[in-house]
Amino acid sequence: MKNHDIVEKNIGLMAVLTIVAISFGSLVEIVPQFFLKETTTPVEGLKPLGAVALEGRDIYIREGCHVCHTQMIRPLRAEVERYGHYSLAGESVYEHPFLWGSKRTGPDLARVGGRYSDAWQKAHLYNPRNVVPESNMPAFPWLFDNVLDGKDTGKKMAALRKVGVPYTDEDIAGAEAAVKGVSEVDALVVYLQQLGTLVQQKR
Ligand code: HEC
Repeated sequence: MKNHDIVEKNIGLMAVLTIVAISFGSLVEIVPQFFLKETTTPVEGLKPLGAVALEGRDIYIREGCHVCHTQMIRPLRAEVERYGHYSLAGESVYEHPFLWGSKRTGPDLARVGGRYSDAWQKAHLYNPRNVVPESNMPAFPWLFDNVLDGKDTGKKMAALRKVGVPYTDEDIAGAEAAVKGVSEVDALVVYLQQLGTLVQQKR
């Protein structure tokens, strides 16, 4: 009798060996991720978001932009041709929480920085139909009225520093002054205009 026959005719042994094989396969896939430099090292030139962009990012989260927009270009030809270089793990190391998203009602925004002018972005946020007639994106006119006071910006930076984002004491001390008086729409546009600009765009 061949060895394999023994396994095939003994369901208990077969179950144990199946579990061993699957566990081993999973370990080989998952464990190296914890040690890969690629997933934990920032891409060259990566800096933490400035005070205004950081507030812009919070507005992005508050308004639910991430519910309709991903920030994750997959390494598939169709995506790379449309959006530019696929997203790299090293671009997200300072993101807490990351905004990769999982649903695209609108286009991916991972590399939208610099694709349009500030004026276009503002017109689009005021009413998307003014610049893209067939758009079904909601309008966000209140962002033009709301003005930031920057009271909490430094605290947010200090909290991010605790989880590894390299903000300096000067960044934190200067945050309130940098943000105070900036309208929400301007902060959001500053955030959008830097998205994905560190890695070369293919458009
Ligand atoms: C209900 C879904 C939805 C929400 C919420 C939403 N969008 Fe959109 N967005 C779209 C759709 C659909 C488009 C494509 C049509 C257009 O350009 O208006 C789009 C397009 C865009 C574009 C142009 C992208 C490109 O490459 O042409 C930007 C920038 C953008 N949205 C930013 C935002 C921001 C910032 C927010 C949050 C304040 C937001 N969107 C919220 C659906 C949404």
